[in-house]
Amino acid sequence: MKFYNNVLELIGNTPLVRINNITKEHKIRAQVYAKMESLNPGYSVKDRIGLSMVDWAEEKGVLKKGGTIIEATSGNTGIGLALVAAVRGYKCIFVLTDKVSVEKNRYLKALGADIVVCPAAAKPGTPDHYVATAKRIAEETPNSFYPDQYNHPANPLAHYRTTGPEIWNDTDGKITHFVASIGTGGTISGTARYLKEMNPNIKVIGADPYGSIFKTYKESGHVPEPTPYLVEGIGQALPTGNADLAIIDEIINITDRESFDFARQLGRREGIFCGGSTGTIFAGALRVAKDLEENAVVVFIVCDTGEHYLTKFHSDEWMKEKLLLEPQRMSAGLIIETKNSGAPAQLVYVTPEDTVGHALERMSESGVTQIPVLEDHRSIGSLRESRVLTKLLQNRDLLESPVSEVMDESFPVMEVDANLSDIKKKLQKAPAVLIEDFKRITGIITRSDVLELQK
Ligand SMILES: Cc1ncc(COP(=O)(O)O)c(C=O)c1O
Repeated sequence: MKFYNNVLELIGNTPLVRINNITKEHKIRAQVYAKMESLNPGYSVKDRIGLSMVDWAEEKGVLKKGGTIIEATSGNTGIGLALVAAVRGYKCIFVLTDKVSVEKNRYLKALGADIVVCPAAAKPGTPDHYVATAKRIAEETPNSFYPDQYNHPANPLAHYRTTGPEIWNDTDGKITHFVASIGTGGTISGTARYLKEMNPNIKVIGADPYGSIFKTYKESGHVPEPTPYLVEGIGQALPTGNADLAIIDEIINITDRESFDFARQLGRREGIFCGGSTGTIFAGALRVAKDLEENAVVVFIVCDTGEHYLTKFHSDEWMKEKLLLEPQRMSAGLIIETKNSGAPAQLVYVTPEDTVGHALERMSESGVTQIPVLEDHRSIGSLRESRVLTKLLQNRDLLESPVSEVMDESFPVMEVDANLSDIKKKLQKAPAVLIEDFKRITGIITRSDVLELQK
């Protein structure tokens, strides 16, 4: 029989996968490989440290039978710890911030953990900060273990013992550049230490969100004021014990837009479904690779699975709300669906038999200055307030006339999957476009709706 004794035996030994389509498009000659940490049983790189920190605690006698593991986590370390806890019979309490995706929060609960959520805006050192909260709960909970992944030596050690050797062996020692993010710093510091021991010429590059402190801190020794960013699990407001910045050759800052764009591209163009931090790292890897020759071997970490972010950056609606959606993905249907902050808008229209007076009332009630004229869900004309009022000045009796007598030509009609650039072209000539789905007019997009998207 071929089997594993428990799920923990599936941690590590993740494969390298070559990137093909995106590198070709960017005219990259170097070989670029993804280290697929998303294939761990908890779908992230952090399974490795969940296991190593619990092994350490058991060895040292810190964690005893029936004990509780308490940790501050952006989710993935919690998942790694919860897997070990499930297999070995411990309880778990995890403290997250409200920035953590609902998917990771529910995943942790499904693995049997209790969750406490703190505001992401709380400053380090204040009582509401998620790390301070985890520490306090650990102090108050008997027979508990607080790993403190930011400072625990078993975190980088797991990567020194496993991630580094796997990359070295799988590349036959040919790796020239290693690119990773810096959250706790465990992955990059531990892996880099092993790789540089094997070959000190290997370059180690950290990819970090704009707003995190690491780049400025490494280059100047000064800790700048952090600013918010959307990518989860990486970057910090303060240095961590496990981020050995001296071993990192260069830190590259990456925007949220680039991170999410590259993470989405990895799914669509390489079939690698990943989280936002992987997008940050891949953006950094491409920047490094573009100046390298054919014999260069760049390895980057795929930190976790895209499944954790289906309601976040893998959702077009979320991307649009954050003003980050790629213009070619901005379809007419999506614009209509989300234009009233998500509330489905009723299309305001009149029929050709309605009176002009009624049409003016409809426009004024709904705060619109133009209105489509529909018959059986098809567009047959339009009314514009200013033109109707000009006609009324000449003949007030028109108020009682049917709309069909005064209406102008219909607004242009476009399909629900029309893209933003085509919609914009139409709006240069017409004040609004109507959107058709299965031969029925279902919505209207005006010039101001499009301007709103570009604010
Ligand atoms: C999604 C994600 N990416 C990257 C990292 C960074 O890994 P490390 O803490 O080893 O620096 C983390 C850490 O929590 C993470 O959750």
